[in-house]
Amino acid sequence: MPRSEPIKAARGVRDILPAAIPLWRQAEQGAAGVAQRFGYQEIATPIIEQLELIQRVGEDTDAVAKELYRVEKRGTQNLALRPEATAGVVRAYFEGGLNQGPQPARLYLIGPMFRYDRPQKGRYRQFFQFNVEAIGVGSPAVDVEVIELARSWLIEVGLDKLALELNTIGDDQCRPAYLDLLRTYYRPLKDKLHPDCQRRLEVNPLRLLDCKVPQCQPLKTGAPKITDHLCEPCASAWAVVLKLLDAAGIGYHLNPYLVRGLDYYTRTTYEAIATSGLGAQSTLAGGGRYDGLVKDLGGPDVPGIGFAAGVERLALLLAQEGKERATRPVVFIAPLGDAEAARADQLAQQLRAAGLATEVSFRKSNPGNQLKRADALGARFALVLGDQELKSDRAKLKELKTGAQHEVTLSGFADEVRKLTGGPR
Ligand code: HAM
Repeated sequence: MPRSEPIKAARGVRDILPAAIPLWRQAEQGAAGVAQRFGYQEIATPIIEQLELIQRVGEDTDAVAKELYRVEKRGTQNLALRPEATAGVVRAYFEGGLNQGPQPARLYLIGPMFRYDRPQKGRYRQFFQFNVEAIGVGSPAVDVEVIELARSWLIEVGLDKLALELNTIGDDQCRPAYLDLLRTYYRPLKDKLHPDCQRRLEVNPLRLLDCKVPQCQPLKTGAPKITDHLCEPCASAWAVVLKLLDAAGIGYHLNPYLVRGLDYYTRTTYEAIATSGLGAQSTLAGGGRYDGLVKDLGGPDVPGIGFAAGVERLALLLAQEGKERATRPVVFIAPLGDAEAARADQLAQQLRAAGLATEVSFRKSNPGNQLKRADALGARFALVLGDQELKSDRAKLKELKTGAQHEVTLSGFADEVRKLTGGPR
């Protein structure tokens, strides 16, 4: 590349520019707030993990088999950038002794994940997840708790066009026999399947059910359903999940094809889908129970359940729906000269101490231009401070949206603005 050409960001990754940060924070802070209210504690695990840990998530998982970012070997360890957080959180649960504390360990994590996928709207190579895990208790009541948590978060940040898709995929006891039934059903149809599904038919037939390729769709309808082939413990856990969701008034749509893209799931699987606005990448959150994963990662037989949600997708949707909760300055103060600048600083200090976001103009320009600037910043009020205002202790506070002029005193300014906004102390 010639040196004169500006170097761009790597493909599929994005900057979060200041204008997008408020929405980002809205999603993140909403996540932390809801998680904490449900009793979940924050955990932060490294972005790099040992390759082997990630590979144990499942060999036929796209995020591992096709999309993994391996880190050039340094020293003796093979490392990779995490494509998801569950494996790292489960590792930390044992390594950090959280298994010795009260169970389930209720944990949440917000951070970047990496997958080498074809970038498109809502799908990136570095993306952020809000990830929730409850490890150590197998009761179906925990399934309902994490589903409720995901739903509360999405509603709280401002979304209402949502659907909850729900399924169970059984466990080690009942799934092998079901997979045989699935293979038996699909084998005579093999030629009609697209090549990926033909390959999966023998190694991982469950994934045939969530294939999105049009030619495979009509074949699904006749496929046996796992809910008709559950063992007794899985069937009764499933019945409890449905009963508790009904009791909690949480609507859901049973989707027998929801098997999820990661190989570690057992029993309950679920996704929260945006019913409009995101096109092909409409899954906001996805998760399920993973009772076998801990053992696969070298630990004892400990159950777990969780979900992860894409922060970018949520932010995109909130922006599209105009759900941004603005964090613009409440007051813009424009001093016209040096003496006024000192007074403007004092007023700004008082406003900020009262919890009101305030910006002081450093530009020396006429009142008209100052008001334009206040408008461009999205401030709610603007105060132009001149000699006259300083001497009389009186000023006109302009409300930019309505054009209203509020008579205020400088000595009681912070209190008066607070009354106007009904805002914080
Ligand atoms: P996942 O379905 O692979 O699950 O990802 C969860 C969510 O992350 C997706 O629903 C989507 O919102 C977001 N996401 C995934 N890939 C991308 C991408 N390339 N760009 C933008 N957003 C993306 C997991 O990761 C599991 N670890 C969830 C889990 C936790 N299951 C149990 N515990």
